[in-house]
Amino acid sequence: MIITRSVDVRGLFNPVDCRSLGVIRTELASMRRGQILEVKANKFQLYEVQAWTRKFSHAIVNVIDEEGLVTIYIEKEGKREESDTPNAISAEQLKQMLDSRRQLFILDVRSAGEFEQWRIEVRYQIDTLHIPYPEFVENPEACISRVPRGPDIAVVCANGGTSGYVAELLRGRGFRAKNLEGGMVAWGNLHQAVPVSMAVAEQAGMAFYQVNRFAKGCLSYVIGSEGEAIVVDPSRNINEYLKLVEEKGLKIKHVIDTHLHADHISGGPRLAERAGAKYHIQSADAADALYSYEPIDDGQEFRAGGVKARVIAMQTPGHTLGSTTLLVNEKCLLAGDTLFVKGTGRPDLGHMAEPWARVLYRTLFLKLKDLPDDVWVLPAHYSLLDEMREDGLVAAELGELRKNNPAMRSRSEDEFVRFILANISEQPAVYQEIRKANLGLIQVDEEKSTEMELGKNQCAALEKLGARS
Ligand SMILES: [Fe+2]
Repeated sequence: MIITRSVDVRGLFNPVDCRSLGVIRTELASMRRGQILEVKANKFQLYEVQAWTRKFSHAIVNVIDEEGLVTIYIEKEGKREESDTPNAISAEQLKQMLDSRRQLFILDVRSAGEFEQWRIEVRYQIDTLHIPYPEFVENPEACISRVPRGPDIAVVCANGGTSGYVAELLRGRGFRAKNLEGGMVAWGNLHQAVPVSMAVAEQAGMAFYQVNRFAKGCLSYVIGSEGEAIVVDPSRNINEYLKLVEEKGLKIKHVIDTHLHADHISGGPRLAERAGAKYHIQSADAADALYSYEPIDDGQEFRAGGVKARVIAMQTPGHTLGSTTLLVNEKCLLAGDTLFVKGTGRPDLGHMAEPWARVLYRTLFLKLKDLPDDVWVLPAHYSLLDEMREDGLVAAELGELRKNNPAMRSRSEDEFVRFILANISEQPAVYQEIRKANLGLIQVDEEKSTEMELGKNQCAALEKLGARS
């Protein structure tokens, strides 16, 4: 083995978070094929090094452990000799275990701020304990005594580094603890395609999916028919869609963004380019974009597979001025961020909250007025887990929303505007940056995108307690 580079990170550990080994990241990013990187580290840093190595798809080819000091050898595209991480659990496996209601305990070791902002949630209450990692370092015995014996434990941190150390510490004491591989970053990138089970899809023999990115509450759609597909609001994880259409034998013909997104980086332009498809967005949102797009007209029709999947675009401004909703076969309304199951899109992203709230009122109460009550609304987001039905689909009939969605309550335009303004939370500062990235005005790499997208979406104006009007 020829050691071509060497780095010593033993003095560099910052126990406050598990993204501290920036030097490792830099080294791994610049490795060339055939190079071996030697890393001298403390044993508790091994897990973070492993996490970063996996992230770059490099391989740890050897680890020498000398009484707490480890020397790790990493090869770019090398053959992995480490075990297939039997003590780790992938985000997908964790979701499956939670879905099947396996008894499971989550131990979250991130900082208090990170935990408060965003955590692992499903439709039922999960047993979760939060003990920040520095407490494990300072007083492991006290921390271990707080962890329940019996259930399987998934240990969670930001990217699967420090949680690996805690999981091993617990296993050494007889706990059944596994490390969530890739941490909350992996959880945040988990997508699941849920079939749209409405009669419209089944009768027309369509391959119609709501792709749910659970951790963010982001929803995108694949509408396939007779070998062709339309993809709506894809996330930047474009492989999720490429994989799905390949499995279903579909070729993507159109990629549509219902609006310029502010909470996540759109995969739209890249997916369209990769698939050789057309990318569509309304020019009111994308006029400043540095990429090419096909502007969407009111009433424009898109088809996948001849006649079976017919999608009509409607201009429904308010959340943004270029917001579009898509009516599929006259029965399913892909509502973007215009209308959610429990709220409506926030109208303040352009710093024009009041005028845009007035525009939103006209959209909801005039433009959508003639749509019948039995049209299914399939939104681009959800904020609350009870917006999801038992079958996993986030959807509701328009008639139900007209009755039960607080934003759809019958009221005057002025009353509506007051209601909306009283129910929008502070806009995350990063949203303006994400909008710029989605216009191609700034370039963001994978790591920056991950950081910008952290946490659940905050796209909705949702009724706060005591704010009814
Ligand atoms: Fe949005």
